[in-house]
Amino acid sequence: CGIIGYVGPRPSQDILLSGLARLEYRGYDSAGIAVIDGDGNLDMRKRAGKLSVLRDDLAADPMPDGTTGIGHTRWATHGGPTDSNAHPHLADDGKLAVIHNGIIENFAELKAGVVADGYPFRSETDTEVAAALLGRAYREHDGDLVAAFRAVVSQLEGAFTLLAMHQDSPGVVVGARRNSPLVIGLGEGENFLGSDVAAFVEHTRNALAIGQDQIVTITPDAVAVTDFDGNDVEVEPFEVVWDASAAEKGGWSSFMAKEVSEEPEAVANTVRGRIHDGVVQIPELDGLDEMFLGINRIVVVACGTAAYAAMVGKYALEQWTRIPVDVELAHEFRYRDPVIGPDTLIVSISQSGETMDTLMAVKYAASRGAKTLSICNTQGATIPRESDAIVYTHAGPEVAVASTKAFVAQITALYLLALHVARLRGSLTAAEIAVNAHELEAIPAKISEILATEQTHIEQFAHWMADTRSVLFLGRHVGYPIALEGALKLKEITYIHAEGFAAGELKHGPIALIEPGQPVFVIVPSPRESAELQKKVVSNIQEIRARGARIIAVAEAGDAAVLPYADEVLRIPLAAPLFEPLLAVVPLHIFAMGLANAKGLDVDQPRNLAKSVTVE
Ligand code: G6P
Repeated sequence: CGIIGYVGPRPSQDILLSGLARLEYRGYDSAGIAVIDGDGNLDMRKRAGKLSVLRDDLAADPMPDGTTGIGHTRWATHGGPTDSNAHPHLADDGKLAVIHNGIIENFAELKAGVVADGYPFRSETDTEVAAALLGRAYREHDGDLVAAFRAVVSQLEGAFTLLAMHQDSPGVVVGARRNSPLVIGLGEGENFLGSDVAAFVEHTRNALAIGQDQIVTITPDAVAVTDFDGNDVEVEPFEVVWDASAAEKGGWSSFMAKEVSEEPEAVANTVRGRIHDGVVQIPELDGLDEMFLGINRIVVVACGTAAYAAMVGKYALEQWTRIPVDVELAHEFRYRDPVIGPDTLIVSISQSGETMDTLMAVKYAASRGAKTLSICNTQGATIPRESDAIVYTHAGPEVAVASTKAFVAQITALYLLALHVARLRGSLTAAEIAVNAHELEAIPAKISEILATEQTHIEQFAHWMADTRSVLFLGRHVGYPIALEGALKLKEITYIHAEGFAAGELKHGPIALIEPGQPVFVIVPSPRESAELQKKVVSNIQEIRARGARIIAVAEAGDAAVLPYADEVLRIPLAAPLFEPLLAVVPLHIFAMGLANAKGLDVDQPRNLAKSVTVE
C-alpha cells in the first residue's frame, strides 16, 4: 500500500492526490483521503478501484479542503477491495482517521477487546482495529494524540506503517513503522510523510529516514522522532537524488514503455563511477575488503524479477570469484534452517528495498551471523538500511509494476560486485577483469541498438500474437533465467499462460505440452564461444519443431544456424556469453509490452499485483 501525510499552509487535497498518484504502483485496489478542514472537522472520502475513481468522485462531489491530511492507496490483504475496506478508517465518532500498510498479526485478539467495548466495525480490515484502539486510547490519554498513538502501536504485532490524525489536534500527523516503509519529507513551513520519497519528491528533496520501531510526529514547523517508549532518537537526513520529472510519464504511452526505453541508461548509470580504465572498484564498498575476503559462500535472496537477476548473476559470481553461490527465493529461505554463518555473505536484491519477504530473509541471515549486502534501487529503503553494505542500482524510479530497467541494472550491479570481489580475492587477473569491464561498458549502446532496430518489428509481431493462449520460453545456461523472466513478464501484464524452462529439461516432461502451433521462444546462445551449447539448443529446437511448435528464436546478429528451424528471429548484437542476458531480455520485455497493448490492457497496473509487496 502507499501512504502519504501532509501538514502545512497549503490545501492538502491536491498534494495528497498527486502524492498518491506517484505511489499508486504500491497498490491500486482502492484509495482514500482524509483532511481536517478550515472549520476543524475531519472529512473523509474513499473509493474502491483505482485512484482515478476517487478523483472523479471528488470532482463530482467536492469535499471541504484543509491543511492537514492523510491519503492511502491500497493493495488488499484483510478484506476485499470494497469502499468500506478502503482506508482511511475512522474512530472516535469520525474525529480520528487512520491509514495503514502491512498486517497486524494479533488483530483477532485485539478486535475481541474492542468489540466487547461496543465499537461498531464497518470493515473487515485489521486496520480498523488499530483505529478503534486509538479512539479509546485518545480519550484515556486526555486528547494527547502522540501518547495515545504510542500506547496503541506498542500493542501491535506484525508489520505496519500506521498514520493517524485527529480533528481536535489539527496540524499534527503521527506515524509509526515496524518492518514497513516510512520516510519524512522536510519542507519550508510544511512537512510530509510517505511510504517512499515519490510521495513528496515534487515538493522537497530533503528527507529523513526513520528506523524500525520509531514514531514520528510532524507539524508544519517541526518533526520529532522517538522510539515506541517515547525516547528521542537520531534520524539520518538524506537528499533525494531522483528529480521529480524522472518519475513522470512524459510523452510516453505508459511508464513501462518509458522504462524499457531507459534500459540503456539504467545499465550506464549503474556502471558509472565504478569502472576506471578497466579496474572495477565500487566506492560504497571501500573499507569492507575483510567482508569479501573472509567468506566461503554467497547466498543471493530475492523475489520475482529480482530473483531471476540473481540467477543470472550466479553464473558470473561463481565463474569470476570461485566462491560457491546459491540463489534462493527469499520467502523460502528462512523456513528451512539454512546452513549460514559468519563466513556466508547474503546478497539481497530488491528494486524497492521494501519487499517484506526479502527483508525478513536479510534480518534472519543477520541474526545468524551472516554478512549482508543489499543491491537496491531506492534510497532510504528498509533493506539497505538493515544491511552491512549497499550497492545501489541507479536505474532511476521504476513505476510500472512489471520490472524492466531495474532488472538489467540488477544484473549489472551483480556483475560489478563479482568483478570487485574477483579483484580483491585475486580470482581473476587484472587483464581478465578489464576485458569483462569493457564488455559491461559496451552494453548500453547494444541495448539502444535493439531498441532502435528491433522494437517496431517485435511490437508488430506481438500484435499478430494477440490471440495466443499460451507461450513457452526456453533457455540454457544464462539463457535459462531469461526464459523465466520472459514468461513472468507475459504472465504479469498479459494474463497469458506462460512458462519458462531450462531447454534441456524439456524432454523430461514439459515437452508433453507441445501441440501444433504452440509458440516457443528460444534464447539461442552465441555459437562463437559456446558452439557446443548452441548445438544442444538447436537440437532442443528440432525436438519441439518436430512436434509442431512455432519457434521464435532470440539469436545473435549474423547467426544463421537457427534460420532453418525458426519461424521468427529476434536479433540481438554480439556479446560475450555471460553478457547475453542483458541483451536477450530486451526483446522479451518489448514483446510482453506489445502483447499487453495489443490486448488493450493496462501495462503499468496489471490486475491483482503491486510493485512493492510489503507483507509476507
Ligand atoms: C513484486 C513485483 C515484482 C517484483 C517483486 C520483487 O512481486 O510485482 O515485479 O519483481 O515484487 O520486488 P523488489 O522491489 O524486491 O525487487
